[in-house]
Amino acid sequence: MVLIGQKSLELPIIQGGMGIGISLGGLAGEVARWGGMGVISAANPGYNHPDFWRDAARVNLEALRQEVHKAREISGGQGIVAVNVMVAAYQYADLVRTAVKAGADAIICGAGLPTKLPALMAGSGVAIAPIVSSGKAARTICRLWDRHHGICPDFVVVEGPEAGGHLGFKPDELEGPAIPELAQLLTEVLAELEPFRRKYGRDIPVFAAGGVFTGADIARYTALGAAGAQIATRFIATYECDASPGYKQRILDARPEDVVLLKSPVGMPGRGLRSPLIERMERGERVLVERCTRCLHPCNPATTPYCITRALIEACRGNWEQGLFFCGSHVGRVKQMVSVQSLLDRLTTEWRNSR
Ligand SMILES: Cc1cc2nc3c(=O)[nH]c(=O)nc-3n(C[C@H](O)[C@H](O)[C@H](O)COP(=O)(O)O)c2cc1C
Repeated sequence: MVLIGQKSLELPIIQGGMGIGISLGGLAGEVARWGGMGVISAANPGYNHPDFWRDAARVNLEALRQEVHKAREISGGQGIVAVNVMVAAYQYADLVRTAVKAGADAIICGAGLPTKLPALMAGSGVAIAPIVSSGKAARTICRLWDRHHGICPDFVVVEGPEAGGHLGFKPDELEGPAIPELAQLLTEVLAELEPFRRKYGRDIPVFAAGGVFTGADIARYTALGAAGAQIATRFIATYECDASPGYKQRILDARPEDVVLLKSPVGMPGRGLRSPLIERMERGERVLVERCTRCLHPCNPATTPYCITRALIEACRGNWEQGLFFCGSHVGRVKQMVSVQSLLDRLTTEWRNSR
């Protein structure tokens, strides 16, 4: 049992936020229902609405509200329902405010350091967490929150280089001879949080993310001081995942050699499957942007090689030709479609047996 803000987390597992449309209220609610932390991705949750390309800002906020309500309903009041918001999103502040108002228990921020997050939360009682990829980033965010807001994070996710989606590392860090190890990053983050734990007289639970596959993996990190793990890719191959059957099948069919590091149009490296779109990018081609919803800094629609929002939406729908299929480095080990309940059961049993 881990204390997260004002709530208790029964299982040591966070289901990582996955945009666009992969983790919405259906998946997050089911994870929460069985005692984990289910995370809704706030990346264009309104992508399926007929008005999306005309009025994305409005449609996204309304969809996020509905997804939080849906997750809460499915969870039946169990577990924790969180929302993942990317700091790089133009709508960042509005998405955070909407998630809080809709009743999310926690806000987790990735793709940038959420320096101003506490100001958006004032008095809400909702737990907040940054996703960091180094001890230095954990120290920076704690110092800023401490100095300007007199608080420390309610929990922290440390994401290593094996994760899926956008990665918080420079390309040469991911391909060089000394790729950072999650265990090492976890140890650094725990050390950086120690002074803030002491100052605030409470624990700051840390969850390890990126390539965590089995309960034994979770146990390796909890033995080092983590409160648990954030796991994403494995949750795609569940019946309750919000992605289309086409995306799920791609995950089940993926072999280790199908996984590539790619350069996202928003400047960060990312990890996904070598789909036809990625092959076209490797050949130096461009897919012209027809319509832009102004989703992420610092994308420039006039020069971007392709529209990441369109590519992620097409993937979510199972369109292999035009989609960008994010996944973690261990996707080749995902072989079976399961229910969320059985995945959580299996992970926790393995974790207990490995401690
Ligand atoms: C399909 C997919 C989409 C993702 N989208 C996001 C996102 O929108 N925001 C974010 O902070 N992390 C995102 N991630 C990262 C995950 O939340 C998670 O931290 C990471 O993938 C964990 O590694 P694993 O997939 O090996 O378990 C995404 C990952 C995947 C696989």
